[in-house]
Amino acid sequence: MLVTGGAGFIGSYLVKKLIEAKHTVITLDNLLTGNVNNLEEVMHHPNHTFVQGSVLDRELLRRIIDQCDVVYHLAAVLGIKNIVENPLRILEENIEGSKNVFGLAYQRSCKVVFASTSEVYGKNDNLPFHENSDRLLGPPTVHRWSYATAKAVEEHLCFAYADKGLPVTVVRYFNAYGPRATSTQYGGVIPKFVTAALKGLPITIHGDGNQTRSFTFVEDTVRGTFLCQDAKHNGQAFNIGIDEVISIKELAEKIKKITVSSSPIVYIPHSDVYGENFEDTPNRIPDLTKSRTILKYSPAIGLDEGLRKTVAWYKAEMDERKGER
Ligand SMILES: NC(=O)c1ccc[n+]([C@@H]2O[C@H](COP(=O)([O-])OP(=O)(O)OC[C@H]3O[C@@H](n4cnc5c(N)ncnc54)[C@H](O)[C@@H]3O)[C@@H](O)[C@H]2O)c1
Repeated sequence: MLVTGGAGFIGSYLVKKLIEAKHTVITLDNLLTGNVNNLEEVMHHPNHTFVQGSVLDRELLRRIIDQCDVVYHLAAVLGIKNIVENPLRILEENIEGSKNVFGLAYQRSCKVVFASTSEVYGKNDNLPFHENSDRLLGPPTVHRWSYATAKAVEEHLCFAYADKGLPVTVVRYFNAYGPRATSTQYGGVIPKFVTAALKGLPITIHGDGNQTRSFTFVEDTVRGTFLCQDAKHNGQAFNIGIDEVISIKELAEKIKKITVSSSPIVYIPHSDVYGENFEDTPNRIPDLTKSRTILKYSPAIGLDEGLRKTVAWYKAEMDERKGER
């Protein structure tokens, strides 16, 4: 099996899970935001090979896909800062990389599981989002929509190839978080809040904090992804998230409580961080009916438990760094 972006946050958990399930895994990652340390537990496992390289390198990708039965395609340029400041890279690299993966997998009839995002639903206020919900995005003049648009184009490619016989399943992740997450990812708000709370620094909320999210513990995200291997899920999209909702303001309070922190909570306008041309999505909640019924996916780790595990990890990391000084 190939995991593209396997040295990243979610990918590294997936690689571990596949190896535990006795699969032979190749990780392909250019280490743009990924880190080999994320693969520490599996790096030297006899069933694991790490290849530093890019999905944009078509010949390399062809050689790897030739050896594989399943490709989990998670490699992507992401992060809100990149999206706002470098939309060209988001659009060109993500779409080009996916074109390579899907095209080469199609030639070999290799199964693909593609990591998409809840962002594709945009600012639709008809909640919760089910897999056939409409996409409501702002205008293309607003760079913030470039990532959602690229992912939607990549999904279109999946379904167009599915019509031609590619065995492909799309998963739409809702804000994954957990140990090893970094602030560059979409669920990056949790690492930022936890780190600030543990250091006693201000916890900074962008906007009024009333925006709501469903934060999914990474082990649940990965379990949902793993369940897609089966051929009966081909040609379909699944929401992978949790139907527990929290506002960003409540999240900050919760993290303060769990970390027993005296950090103040401060608010700054989005425009101060990302410029005037920025829009936030007010609410994002998944309808999990389809995933529960067909995939038999059900999130097992609620926000309180997941946050405790996450806080414990960041605390241990910070203590270790202090010890090294
Ligand atoms: N974290 C979330 O909440 C979330 C939500 C929705 C969707 N996703 C999707 O899940 C996937 C994994 O995201 P993540 O949160 O683990 O982020 P991440 O940044 O940790 O992982 C992305 C990985 O892709 C690698 N990469 C980037 N460009 C590459 C290229 N051209 N070739 C090979 N590797 C490349 C990076 O080095 C990194 O390891 C992404 O496709 C992302 O869009 C994540």
